[in-house]
Amino acid sequence: MITLHQASKHYTTSSGPFQAVQSVSLHVEEGEIHGFIGTSGAGKSTLLRLMNVLEQPDEGNVVVNGDELTRMPEKRLREARRSIGMIFQHYHLVHNRTVSGNVAMPLELAGVPKKERALRVRECLQFVGLADKAEQYPAQLSGGQKQRVAIARALANRPAVLLCDEPTSALDPQTTADILGVLREINRELGVTIVIVTHDMDVVRSICSRVSEMRDGRLLSTQPVGGPSDSSKAGEGEAHE
Ligand SMILES: Nc1ncnc2c1ncn2[C@@H]1O[C@H](COP(=O)(O)OP(=O)(O)OP(=O)(O)O)[C@@H](O)[C@H]1O
Ligand SMILES: [Mg+2]
Repeated sequence: MITLHQASKHYTTSSGPFQAVQSVSLHVEEGEIHGFIGTSGAGKSTLLRLMNVLEQPDEGNVVVNGDELTRMPEKRLREARRSIGMIFQHYHLVHNRTVSGNVAMPLELAGVPKKERALRVRECLQFVGLADKAEQYPAQLSGGQKQRVAIARALANRPAVLLCDEPTSALDPQTTADILGVLREINRELGVTIVIVTHDMDVVRSICSRVSEMRDGRLLSTQPVGGPSDSSKAGEGEAHE
C-alpha cells in the first residue's frame, strides 16, 4: 500500500545540511496497522510527511495506493493526497469553525457538492461518536473529542491510508484507549491501512501488526508485533493470580 524506495530528506540548518531521513526503504502492507518508534529527532515525523509527500524526498521514490507521488504534477498530487488522511498530536483543528465545519473542509477543497458534503460530514461524525457535537466549536471539546473531530475530518474523503503522528501523546490512558479503539474500527470496518508514529510501546502492543524502529534518520528494523497478551517479559517480581 505504501512503498518507499531509498527515500532521503535533508534540511538546511544554520550549521549546514542535516540529513533527517537517510535512504529508507520500506513497505507498509494493505490493511495493516504499522507502528513507527524511535527517539526524539530520529526522523519519524519527517518519514510520515514523505509518505504523503508533504515533503518531497531529495532522492528515492514514494508509491502510495499505486500512485507514484514523487515528482507528480501538483494538481494530480492534490487529488492523490485525498486517499491519504493525516492526524496529529495537537489535532490542528480550525478554531473559528464548528465541528461539522472542520470535517467539511477537505470536502470543500475537493469540490464535493453541498448535499453530499452534509451527508458525509454526518456519516463521519457518527462513525467517531460525535454526531451530537456537530454545531459546537473546538474550544468546547475535550482533548479526546478534538482528536475524534480530527479523525472524522481525515476520513471525510474516504482515504485508503491514515497517517497518525503521535495521535494519543496528549491524552490520558483511558482517552488513549478510546482513540485506539476508533483507529482499530477504522482499520477493520473501513479497511483503511494505518501508519502510527508513537513513543508509547503500549500503543504498539495494543493495535499494531508490525513495528519499525528508526534511529538517526535510518530504519533499523521492522518486526511483527506479538498478540495483546505478549507480556511474557514482565519482571521477576510480578505476582501471578
Ligand atoms: N523543517 C525543519 N527544518 C530543519 N530541521 C528539521 C525540520 N524538521 C525536522 N528537522 C530536524 O530533523 C530531525 C528529525 O525530525 P523529526 O521531526 O522527523 O523527528 P521525530 O522522530 O519525529 O522526533 P519527535 O519524536 O521529537 O517528534 C530533527 O533533528 C529535527 O530537528
Ligand atoms: Mg515527530
